[in-house]
Amino acid sequence: MLRGSKVGLRARHEDDIPILRVELYNDVVNASRAEGWPWRPIPPGSKDPRLVVDDKQEGIVRFSVVELEGDTLVGSATLWGIDSHNRCAHIGLGLLPSSRGKGYGTDVVAVLCHYGFVVRGLQRLQIETLSDNAAMLRAAERNGFVREGVLRSSAWVLGEFLDEVLLGLLAQDWKP
Ligand SMILES: CC(C)(COP(=O)(O)OP(=O)(O)OC[C@H]1O[C@@H](n2cnc3c(N)ncnc32)[C@H](O)[C@@H]1OP(=O)(O)O)[C@@H](O)C(=O)NCCC(=O)NCCS
Repeated sequence: MLRGSKVGLRARHEDDIPILRVELYNDVVNASRAEGWPWRPIPPGSKDPRLVVDDKQEGIVRFSVVELEGDTLVGSATLWGIDSHNRCAHIGLGLLPSSRGKGYGTDVVAVLCHYGFVVRGLQRLQIETLSDNAAMLRAAERNGFVREGVLRSSAWVLGEFLDEVLLGLLAQDWKP
């Protein structure tokens, strides 16, 4: 397990799947804002790759996020689009509703940076988020990510086009 100050990132366990499905991925608003494609319900037992991890996929690493104190599941975190030639990747995360606003998101980003830069030897990490996602923007900036641009009207979200912000962090600028 990778440890931050408040949360740990560990492998996906079978017991995590129904909780993540109900609380995160079957939430239409959350999924529509976070995913970049239209929401669809996930039936119980489905092999949805966001839930059931295929560890043969080289370009993506999925973690379950747990509280260090008590080992309770609080969300999901991903390093995706891992490009071993250009040595870059993207970060994604989602916390269960009751676990938001407690500093866990900021800590998850810190742990993903450690995984990306130290464990995987990457040079650049990137985050894309909706421009009104204040908590995600702040969690990224607290870890040293800088805003590199706005992708105007790049996301169709529940009836309207929204802007996304692209943030990046280079290994040499990262302060663990
Ligand atoms: C986005 C998300 C991961 C952030 O994690 P979090 O644990 O809620 O955020 P934190 O508690 O670490 O807060 C980070 C900062 O944002 C601020 N913040 C938290 N919630 C906020 C909110 N609803 N509105 C404005 N600011 C907020 C905090 O005060 C903190 O700022 P500070 O460092 O100046 O004190 C989490 O809210 C989440 O899972 N949201 C739904 C899914 C999602 O949006 N995923 C990202 C898709 S790109």
